[in-house]
Amino acid sequence: MINSVDYKKIVFFTGAGMSAESNVPTYRGKGGIWNKYNWEEYACQAAFDQDPEKVLKFHEIRRKAVLGCKPHSGHFVISELENTHPQVIIVTQNIDGMHQRAGSKNVIELHGSVWRLKCPKHDIFEDIGNAYRNYRCEKCGTWLRPDIVWFGDMLNHEVIQQAISAISTCDIFISIGTSGIVYPAAGFPEIAKNNGAFCIEINPEPSVISHIYDQNIRECASVALSQLFKDISI
Ligand code: APR
Repeated sequence: MINSVDYKKIVFFTGAGMSAESNVPTYRGKGGIWNKYNWEEYACQAAFDQDPEKVLKFHEIRRKAVLGCKPHSGHFVISELENTHPQVIIVTQNIDGMHQRAGSKNVIELHGSVWRLKCPKHDIFEDIGNAYRNYRCEKCGTWLRPDIVWFGDMLNHEVIQQAISAISTCDIFISIGTSGIVYPAAGFPEIAKNNGAFCIEINPEPSVISHIYDQNIRECASVALSQLFKDISI
């Protein structure tokens, strides 16, 4: 169990496994999206350039699926902790907006969001609903692109800086449900560790970076979070 008052800054670092109990599919492993779909056809700029409509339709299916899912108790443990503790930051690789739906405010989205679209020449804007309002920019007619970091894309520099600043100054770092394969995010636990944070991994399975953590909790996110933060009532 963790007594949250013992820590000044708490960072949660979440991956697809955080949303698994909400029934949002993970990317890899059993039921993973990349077992069913070839990312080269749906999740890279080249695929979008070749067939934007096909890529947008794929993302609409994902939006629809996510809308049918609800945050689970683990998401609420984190958002409740945010209400009672002055410095809780969530650095997520997830694009599903589930933390925000549970009430979390301090969320750094490393890989963008399925709920935003961008025009390469104009703005990034929110488009909430199971289907996109428009496939093309109203101002210039260009195909709109989901505001998601796809394979081969660079991460937003400012977002990375915000994440690194939080991670390198936290005193406890809790990683939940990530396979630790996709960089630069997979390097974040090491940054936390090298800066003196106590590092915990929550994952029912070992990940390729399990050895970095001070503690490995082989449980699902909801169970592990309720055990770690017994004083948080949701
Ligand atoms: N609780 C905690 N962890 C879980 C749970 C659960 N209930 N269920 C599964 N997991 C773990 C799996 O064991 C696995 O290690 O979640 C991890 C999910 O791994 P991935 O599917 O690889 O997801 P993630 O690490 O978030 O992927 C990183 O890859 O495709 C890109 O951009 C995409 O953000 C994504 C990135």
